[in-house]
Amino acid sequence: MGNESSTVVDDSTPPSVLEARNLEGVAKYIKQRSVQRVVVMVGAGISTSAGIPDFRSPDTGLYSNLAYLDLPEPEDVFDIGFFRENPRPFYALARELAPGQFRPTIAHSFIKLLYDEGLLMKHFTQNIDCLERLAGVPGDMIVEAHGSFATQHCIDCKAEYPDDLMKAAVAKEEVPHCLQCQGLVKPDIVFFGEALPADFFENRELPEQADLCIIMGTSLTVQPFASLPGLVREGVPRVLINMERVGGLGSRPDDVLVLGDCDTGVRKLARALGWEQQLEAMWEATKPDQGTREAEQGPPPTREEQLQDEVDRLTEEVDRTLGFSSAYEERVRRHLEGTSSQKTDSAEETTRRTTTTTGAGQNDSESVGGLGHVFPHLARANKSG
Ligand code: APR
Repeated sequence: MGNESSTVVDDSTPPSVLEARNLEGVAKYIKQRSVQRVVVMVGAGISTSAGIPDFRSPDTGLYSNLAYLDLPEPEDVFDIGFFRENPRPFYALARELAPGQFRPTIAHSFIKLLYDEGLLMKHFTQNIDCLERLAGVPGDMIVEAHGSFATQHCIDCKAEYPDDLMKAAVAKEEVPHCLQCQGLVKPDIVFFGEALPADFFENRELPEQADLCIIMGTSLTVQPFASLPGLVREGVPRVLINMERVGGLGSRPDDVLVLGDCDTGVRKLARALGWEQQLEAMWEATKPDQGTREAEQGPPPTREEQLQDEVDRLTEEVDRTLGFSSAYEERVRRHLEGTSSQKTDSAEETTRRTTTTTGAGQNDSESVGGLGHVFPHLARANKSG
């Protein structure tokens, strides 16, 4: 396990294996070295674009938004000792996090593509959302280091709890109790203070055999998961695709830092590998079934129907606007002729009402409503009128 110094290797230190410390260099390495033992290590950051908040991002992270649960510390919601005392905050949150409401991201599809291309040795995830499974990555290729919602047990007698009862309880934010001993039941996600699943320890040496390591969307703050990248042998490239530099990545000559969002990073790597079309097609296939959606909402409008709707909407807006300006012209003409008629009042009413709406004294370009930004000539015409 190499020392993970905090300094980033500088450009004066050339890579020892890669041609260049970038995704093009990684793609060349994959092709030229016939890479086939890739380990992937991920965290919540690969699911944020699916709509699942991560934990520690400032403002948007889960831990910044749990005030409504009134917890001593945000992480208590996943603390086994706290859960024994008060399981309610967890079940209030579980409903929002439970699988089945989210679509995999293109980063999840990239992991599936690595598998399909025969390169994936093992995928280590800290996530409990099961989106890798939903993206089609086979279960035996995944190490769910922090468990998942896939199963649930009693925390006392360890008896399994039925899936359907669990789903019902989560949906109603109710706390389920063991059918055997009435103890508390929780999904098999690893709480702070609990041991990681045996599957993690049975596979944790695999990074030592890897010929490439890709780390995505994790702060690498929670042990023992955070120690995995350090197990990769020196001289084996490690690619970090993350909003920020974490875990001492960048300290080795063949570390590649891709600081930005995961979806953009995996698209860039796929492009360099010539896999762009397969990746997009694979991700497209993760869309919820069009059939069920059509059954609910009817067939999506055709392009022509969409265009016609847009034309109709704009026509209505223009008619309304022209109606205001011709009433305005009429009013000015009558005013100049020194005449006023009952008809003008009603037209003025329309104009006055709009002027009143936009505030007395404003020139009539404001009283035209919101189309000035759509038809600038209308805004100009009314200013000069
Ligand atoms: N693209 C790239 N990086 C992202 C994106 C994104 N779209 N969204 C978030 N990130 C980055 C954040 O900048 C941060 O570095 O992903 C990382 C997410 O870190 P955390 O919120 O700490 O999530 P994670 O690393 O999975 O947390 C580990 O902590 O609370 C426990 O059990 C929980 O498994 C979790 C563990």
